[in-house]
Amino acid sequence: MGHREGDLDFRPHLSHLFPCANNIPIYTLVSDPVASSSDGAQSIHEPKENLVVRIDSNQYDLIKCTMSEWVDYYRALENRQPRQLFQDWQRIWEASRGKPGFAIDLGCGDGTETLVLLAHGWHVLAVDSTPEAIEWVIRRTPEEDRPRLQVQVVAFQQARFPPANLIYAGLSLPFCPPEDLPPVWRKIRSALKPGGHFVGHFFGVRDSWAGKPDMNFLTAGQARSLLDGLAVERFQEFERDEPTVFEAVKRKHYFEVIVRREGETGG
Ligand SMILES: C[S@@+](CC[C@H](N)C(=O)[O-])C[C@H]1O[C@@H](n2cnc3c(N)ncnc32)[C@H](O)[C@@H]1O
Repeated sequence: MGHREGDLDFRPHLSHLFPCANNIPIYTLVSDPVASSSDGAQSIHEPKENLVVRIDSNQYDLIKCTMSEWVDYYRALENRQPRQLFQDWQRIWEASRGKPGFAIDLGCGDGTETLVLLAHGWHVLAVDSTPEAIEWVIRRTPEEDRPRLQVQVVAFQQARFPPANLIYAGLSLPFCPPEDLPPVWRKIRSALKPGGHFVGHFFGVRDSWAGKPDMNFLTAGQARSLLDGLAVERFQEFERDEPTVFEAVKRKHYFEVIVRREGETGG
């Protein structure tokens, strides 16, 4: 197609996925020259525009096939409150009188937490493999907050995470196949700045979805061992039957985690 490695390429055929982004050029990265580097946390390309939608062309067909269920999910939870875990982290952060920094919202879905972070002055990179999720985030972001928003349509497995003060993964990491969690988790850890928080959920082995091959489920010991070397500010296990968007009742077994990388919070 005549592109050089790493060229940013305007793909008008993707624009229909982002009707809200009317005047916002949508760029996709044809291929990524630093993807083969072994260093987990690298700076991403400097965005040419505030909003850079990155879709690896190899992933596009895969992404297209998986998105419809998630859209039902976003619709069912329209106007939801930020997750309790996120609100708990907010209280910790406010108590520490921290300054807004750079956050990554992994598996941002409808973007509720991204919007809250933006409203509090954070710069946010919202990442999701479902293009509609990113479309929701862009549409819901007030004009004045858009200069501080970046988005990527990419799977965690292919994503590279820039250094961040906060990495929030609300109900999203369990959707990685088991063999993908360790490398994704290494990237997350190495992207955390000193003083930065990881906040997220892991699913437990007694969850009624356990055994789905494209998802991962952890024992409490496995979940805790991921956190070795980080300051654990919250590790809470839940197990209860509850309805979900997709089922009348489900055994939910999950862990809520707030951890901090030791060190001074950098800018
Ligand atoms: C249960 S939803 C959670 C969305 C939002 N964080 C929330 O709390 O409502 C999981 C999200 O993760 C995204 N997701 C699932 N697997 C992913 C992957 N491998 N890479 C990137 N995003 C993924 C889905 O598209 C979906 O938006």
